[in-house]
Amino acid sequence: MGWAAIVSQLALDGKSQSADNWPVLTLDSTQIATLLGWEDDSGGPLFRRLADGLRRLAEEGYLVDGSHLPPERQLAQALAVSRNTVTAAYALLRTEGWIEARQGSATRIAASRTSEAAVHRADSVMATLLRDLGSTTIDLTVAAPSAAPIVARSIADPSSVMVDPSVLTEGHGYHAGGHARLRMAVAALLSAQGLPTRREEVMITNGVQQALSLLLAELTRPGMGVAIEEVAYPGLIDLAMRSGALIHLLPVGTDGADVNALQAACHRGRVDAAILAPDFQNPTGALTSAETRRRLIRVAQEEDLVLIDDRTHTDLDLGLPPPPPLGSFDDQSRVVTIGGMSKLYWGGLRLGWIRARSSLINRLIEQKAGFDLGTSAPMQIIAAELLHHHHEATRTWRNEQLRHSLDALEAALKASMPAAEWTRPPGGPNLWIRLPGTDALEFSHRALRDGVAVIAGPLLTCRPGRATDRIRVPFYADPGTLTEAITRLARCWSQMTGR
Ligand SMILES: Cc1ncc(COP(=O)(O)O)c(C=O)c1O
Repeated sequence: MGWAAIVSQLALDGKSQSADNWPVLTLDSTQIATLLGWEDDSGGPLFRRLADGLRRLAEEGYLVDGSHLPPERQLAQALAVSRNTVTAAYALLRTEGWIEARQGSATRIAASRTSEAAVHRADSVMATLLRDLGSTTIDLTVAAPSAAPIVARSIADPSSVMVDPSVLTEGHGYHAGGHARLRMAVAALLSAQGLPTRREEVMITNGVQQALSLLLAELTRPGMGVAIEEVAYPGLIDLAMRSGALIHLLPVGTDGADVNALQAACHRGRVDAAILAPDFQNPTGALTSAETRRRLIRVAQEEDLVLIDDRTHTDLDLGLPPPPPLGSFDDQSRVVTIGGMSKLYWGGLRLGWIRARSSLINRLIEQKAGFDLGTSAPMQIIAAELLHHHHEATRTWRNEQLRHSLDALEAALKASMPAAEWTRPPGGPNLWIRLPGTDALEFSHRALRDGVAVIAGPLLTCRPGRATDRIRVPFYADPGTLTEAITRLARCWSQMTGR
């Protein structure tokens, strides 16, 4: 194992109380040993490498402010090094101000020395992103569109999309698994996309986020393993970090998640499920080929895994539809398919779905009923009309807008930030931009002061040291706004780097 096995048993073990009485999550020595790994052999004295590793754990959020470090003897045992090595590493970190030890109490990570990434991870990145930044800042942190006109029209006047609006308030309105109309509309949509689906195989959720959280709760138990993409949508990272599962990270290339890495993870340790976004991965935009989808299914069958296919971006194909859904290659019900309305229609609808074999759907419905007794009925009925009668038109409209905005974004980057690097994505709403030689976290802080909020790479990964020079720029905004944003970012970059 090593850095690849990210221990998120944080939530389970070793809780102690911080000064303000919130539990402080603390890793024990075995967990730290797993996280540190020793494969990353950069040479140099052992105590210095250990100090570097512990500092990285603090910077990346595995050891948050106030976390206890294990007693020296225990950590030495877990790492199979001498106690002197640990003593020297702790002494170095103390000198640098990363840790503090008061007489008679445990050694802790010093308050105010953990990084922004650590704070975000502890607090939930998604919740932080959804704050209001004020009107002078161009907010490019949340990759979500404003409502499509058809959504605004159907909410203002439901009779514009349906013959009999009285159905909106029919019955008691509780539908734990979702309103029959929307379940049917989703089944029809998935069937048309190449995945034959019956109504009983679909349930409705409050967005894809709830689909993910129900599935993680249902399919994972402490000590089980879940594979996710190494850079991913922050809401998934938040959930995975809190799930108690052991997280395996899969590198993402232009063909999506690395299948060999998935197989290797299965051989190295326990993997029970993999959550992947083969259609225009967030943030890279990667599209997984049909051949690789077949390989993923083979691995899932051989290794006895559940594959969760997150189709949040499927409809944002910018013109060239993706290969058939992962589930269409699967004859053993190993794929659970999730999707939603947020990226094409509007996130404010808070509508998503899960497609799985009906026995699993029934268990998930029981779980959802315990949380909220079901999703808002009128919105589901309106959404069913949109999917049945307005889907293709909305898809064409949204993709045309995205293409124009992406063209403007790329033109602005070429003109003002020629040293930046990126690959034009085949779909999705994000450009994953590399700023060579730049600390993206620091850049994002400076950019915020200059009136543009962007999300830095380290907040989209839980692998320490990855994506440190990347920013994610969604292109839902209009071309003028994106051009202005790049002008501001270019100014900021040139002030920061002198180029
Ligand atoms: C890949 C991916 N999955 C899930 C979600 C959550 O979407 P929803 O608004 O449907 O909860 C997002 C949102 O950005 C996403 O990008």
